[in-house]
Amino acid sequence: MSDLPEHVRRNRMLWDDWARKFVAAGEEAWAQDTPTWGVWGVPESQVGMFPEDLAEKDVIELVCGTAHVSAWLARRGARVVGVDNSAAQLATARRLQRQYNLDFLLLHGNVETVPYPAASFDFAISEYGACLWADPQCWVPEAARLLRPGGRLVFLVNSFLLMLCMPAEDGVAATERLLRPAFGMYRVEWPGDIGVEFHLSHGDWIRLLRRTGFEIEELVEVRPATTATMRYPFVTLEWARQWPCEEVWKVRRRA
Ligand SMILES: C[S@@+](CC[C@H](N)C(=O)[O-])C[C@H]1O[C@@H](n2cnc3c(N)ncnc32)[C@H](O)[C@@H]1O
Repeated sequence: MSDLPEHVRRNRMLWDDWARKFVAAGEEAWAQDTPTWGVWGVPESQVGMFPEDLAEKDVIELVCGTAHVSAWLARRGARVVGVDNSAAQLATARRLQRQYNLDFLLLHGNVETVPYPAASFDFAISEYGACLWADPQCWVPEAARLLRPGGRLVFLVNSFLLMLCMPAEDGVAATERLLRPAFGMYRVEWPGDIGVEFHLSHGDWIRLLRRTGFEIEELVEVRPATTATMRYPFVTLEWARQWPCEEVWKVRRRA
């Protein structure tokens, strides 16, 4: 633990504590056959997070939490590895693996340094995972190293616009005003919270992804359905219908 970077240590403490609050959501997601994504449960047909053919593909989930995304991938025939920094989150994942009799590898560790040789995977995915909680200067090059040439990385995370409009107070929804500067945003710590998040502008994502060997294929701005509901207070449906509160980046490792 003491040799982990400071933000990784803090996020481990946070998630070992929060894990119990994510058990029910994990159980619900494991019970689903058809993937839905993000806080609004947007259908796979709308965002296309998964490649068409996953059978026999080597896939890594860069932060798996309770591992429901890994479970959906394994059910589609992929050889999956899920990585997570929280033993408590992985305990839920392992219990659900036993319940559903679904075996894939779960690694306890920091996604910024994954103990696999270069070019081990065809596909890497992250939903509110590495793309939110790990340092992009570390996890993006690590994802590039882990992927085979031509391999794809897909991640879903809060939109940059949401981060500009989100009050610092816990439980208060995003406003229609810009509350903080866009320039210079990178590491974000919310008051009273021990966790550390990372949020990048689109320009910073594009520069980092291209510099580390990725070509950008698509940026999907997620729009929930008019009937969508969600469990968190940080954005209203009215807001999310007008502006993207989540975004999906789809990039490919240069051949
Ligand atoms: C929102 S959850 C993961 C999302 C997953 N899709 C889910 O819904 O269960 C965030 C996860 O990030 C993990 N995490 C944070 N920093 C990490 C790091 N540096 N390496 C690996 N996992 C990390 C936490 O332990 C936590 O399980």
